[in-house]
Amino acid sequence: MSLFNFEFQIKTKIIFGENKIEKLNDSLESFGVKRIMLVVDKGIIEAGLIDKVEKILKKSDFEYFIFDQVKPDPTIEIVNSGIKFLLENKVDALVAVGGGSPIDTAKAIRASFSNVELADKISVDKLPLITIPTTSGSGSEVTKAVVIKDENTKKKFAVADENLAPDISIVDPIMTKTLPPQLTAIGGMDALSHCIESYVSHAAVLPFEMIATKGIEMVKNYLRPAVGNGNNMEARAGMSLASLFGGISLSNCGLGLVHAISHPLGGQFNIPHGLANTMILPYVMEFNIIANPAKFANIAYLFGVNIENMTEMEAACKGIEEIKKIKKDIGLDYSLNDFGVDKFEYIAELALKEKLMLKSNPRSIEKKDIIKILRRAY
Ligand SMILES: [Fe+2]
Repeated sequence: MSLFNFEFQIKTKIIFGENKIEKLNDSLESFGVKRIMLVVDKGIIEAGLIDKVEKILKKSDFEYFIFDQVKPDPTIEIVNSGIKFLLENKVDALVAVGGGSPIDTAKAIRASFSNVELADKISVDKLPLITIPTTSGSGSEVTKAVVIKDENTKKKFAVADENLAPDISIVDPIMTKTLPPQLTAIGGMDALSHCIESYVSHAAVLPFEMIATKGIEMVKNYLRPAVGNGNNMEARAGMSLASLFGGISLSNCGLGLVHAISHPLGGQFNIPHGLANTMILPYVMEFNIIANPAKFANIAYLFGVNIENMTEMEAACKGIEEIKKIKKDIGLDYSLNDFGVDKFEYIAELALKEKLMLKSNPRSIEKKDIIKILRRAY
């Protein structure tokens, strides 16, 4: 596809900056709503982040209802109980506060794709949805995708639809300040995976390549300092931007083989999503290089490597070394062996079913390639 043919749309209004959380009431009032469902997990309550949101809501005359049953890797059951909660409390807007899990849950509740019977009773897809991310990584605050797990089969499935995109995302880096170093590291590597996969994607086009490459630069500049000192607000803001840029880019250009493999790894072995990505990213990059050496060389350049006297292939390999370095520096130097990952054949079969992820991967893939990548990451 030529770089110069594209459609460009971001459905979500983004309000970005420190203390922008204060804009929540104005945003809700713009929809003329009164009864708000807050979608959170227990961690958000324990970290006191919900208090900040409640304090703001109390300044106006909203009624709000807290749905706190979200767990990591949201399941169909949790989404269905959220739909019941929504109906019981007759809410007219949703506000998701948290990482990828509460946000994905809220998006799925609104779209109610998992329960047609209940969905028929109320047009939940008309309810406004505002997202307030408290992590930097998933990009879910701005994407038109959700990942939901089927508890029975332990399989995760990704759904992408324009109607899933939130109406407004209030990205306030202060909301990420209390995120512990390891979660900062894991989320940051998820953002990096989004930026890299959408940049090298088949479907990448110029405006989103610009956004994705800026996201890569943000990770290069700010992930180490954000992990090193969570109070560094410049680093926190940089990582909030990396997450946002990754989300915008992946929504429009798709992802690739890293996510196709990390979904079954997460589903079958309960490995946190960003960590699964981190373990396989360098080896998927090695595999994909020959499909677009120039772009992989540019990744090295974005990581600050002097590529002047190198061939594209040499530079591309240096880029992978940079990924391995950052992974080590932020304390995520794990391999699949550490998580008891086995059943490579089965994981490879599940990865091949991730059609949504694979269709934009730059290189065509066979089962044996995935098994080889899993062995390299072991
Ligand atoms: Fe991801």
